[in-house]
Amino acid sequence: MVRVPTKLVTWDEIVEWSMGLAETIKRRGFKPDIVIAVSRGGYVPARLICDFLLVDNLISLQSQHWTEAAKVAEKALIKFPYKVDLSGLRALLVDDIVDTGDTLILAKDFIASEWNPKDLKIAALQWISPVAKIKPDFYYIEVKEWIWFQYPWTRHEDTTQFIKRILLEKKEIKREWSYNEIKTEFEESYGIFVGDAYFKLALNTLVELGILEKKNDVFVIKMT
Ligand code: ADE
Repeated sequence: MVRVPTKLVTWDEIVEWSMGLAETIKRRGFKPDIVIAVSRGGYVPARLICDFLLVDNLISLQSQHWTEAAKVAEKALIKFPYKVDLSGLRALLVDDIVDTGDTLILAKDFIASEWNPKDLKIAALQWISPVAKIKPDFYYIEVKEWIWFQYPWTRHEDTTQFIKRILLEKKEIKREWSYNEIKTEFEESYGIFVGDAYFKLALNTLVELGILEKKNDVFVIKMT
């Protein structure tokens, strides 16, 4: 059963999408003096945009969701609100995806008020139009139905989380799993194939985190 609609994004697609995004920015006549990556998702696209548009200046700003302890609601925050003077510069804020848009809105407002650029535009590889509170100035793909994009830069993190979710959900009915059983369950649940290297890495991580225990050839869910 597929729980979360998920699409595996390859490195080749990232290059293709970033090239397409850079092409759009160029065609529309925007020439950034500086690129600002929204950390962490915007790092790789921002670096590629710098390459395709031949921009030397690249900085970043970490704007991300954090879950307040014991609260379901998530709040966006600027993690390291440092000061930099961008007066006289045309800035391009780059992120991987505009989902709700909360983190991007926060980053944009922070930069506009604290860093004072001459111009500030937003570019994203993907824009989930039905849920986003903001439309980026430039985007490459409009996503019409929400889906989780498994980007290459979160492959280990996502795989670890996905395996953890599947196993903990079943811990009352099945505690001992072989490698192949976990893999089959993962692929049936998420419909993606992350490859053995990532899969083994994620399982090792779950062992290191104390969630799984490896006994001979089986993984046992630790009861806490
Ligand atoms: N980050 C925020 N929303 C996302 C999504 N739908 N897919 C991948 N990464 C995301």
